[in-house]
Amino acid sequence: MVPMETMPEEAARINELASAYKKSQVLFTALDAGVFPLLEEARTADAVAAALGWHPRGIRMLLDGLVALDLATKESGRYRNTPAASACLVPGGSDYVGHIVRHQHGAYDAYAGLADAVRDGGQAGRPPRRRTPGELESFILGMADLGRRAAQAILDLVDLSAYRNMLDVAGGPGTYSAAFVQRHEGLRATIMDRPGVIDIARQQIREAGLDGRFTFIAGDVLADDMGAGYDLILASNIIHAYGHEANRLLFKRCFAAMAPGGLLVINDFLVDDGRTGPPECLLFAIHMLVMTTTGGDTYTFADVEAWTRDAGFVDGRPLTASPRPRLWLARKP
Ligand SMILES: C[S@@+](CC[C@H](N)C(=O)[O-])C[C@H]1O[C@@H](n2cnc3c(N)ncnc32)[C@H](O)[C@@H]1O
Repeated sequence: MVPMETMPEEAARINELASAYKKSQVLFTALDAGVFPLLEEARTADAVAAALGWHPRGIRMLLDGLVALDLATKESGRYRNTPAASACLVPGGSDYVGHIVRHQHGAYDAYAGLADAVRDGGQAGRPPRRRTPGELESFILGMADLGRRAAQAILDLVDLSAYRNMLDVAGGPGTYSAAFVQRHEGLRATIMDRPGVIDIARQQIREAGLDGRFTFIAGDVLADDMGAGYDLILASNIIHAYGHEANRLLFKRCFAAMAPGGLLVINDFLVDDGRTGPPECLLFAIHMLVMTTTGGDTYTFADVEAWTRDAGFVDGRPLTASPRPRLWLARKP
């Protein structure tokens, strides 16, 4: 039983949970309005309101909200970005996450339907989500926002120096394979993803100055030709989009596309076998419940062990750092 003296603190924590959406909306509104680039200079609320053509009363409250969230400071009536807001929320900032914040904003309406998805399992005849070009760009560049540091963390955990020819399956913007190729001079990479995403990946790879070392395949990783002879295949953040059967098929196809002796690296929100954590991975399953119509979920190490073993891979093993990455490695004999 919870001791009485902790009750107020716990009650406050629960009220915080209930109110968290208000803070998200302050952030989304400021980002979408273009407040953060303006606050690179100290400005009054009236000056920000005039620059945006928005109401001074609303802007004053929004900017005070940013102060409350430690995203702005206020001195002598002038607001300015905190260092965190400059780095993370101004385009070109060193740790820019504006794309992924927009992507999170895009999921807001879907979460309003969480109760329905829980009640019917998220399957009952929902039409597949069609992303607008703007939503697709936020999603895919959001993956780049998240992937830059994560790719370095994988490189620090796994020695990839022996590999020459990798497939980044469902590679999105190619952030991981770009980092791998940059770290290992002898490595070339192929990114396979859907056509609209491949257009974004090509641009990302061009901007990184890596065109000469990349090949692109626009297609369906569950149906189309993936190429062959890869000695390294990365399946990063793809299994959570699908159910067990599609994932079994995906790894059979990866096995067929891989050269003997090759390495498979799975990077995902892998859950502990008893599904007790980590918290981020448990919560991400709910994101898949509301966002996918393809049976998305988060999976345990035991799940990926079974799929990869059935496909023919051997020597499967987990490899993790806290909080992420959470990897599964296996080899083709
Ligand atoms: C969550 S993103 C991960 C992107 C990248 N691997 C990463 O970790 O940053 C999932 C990607 O899988 C792609 N995808 C999903 N199903 C696919 C399919 N059947 N064929 C090709 N690409 C697919 C999506 O277009 C998207 O780029």
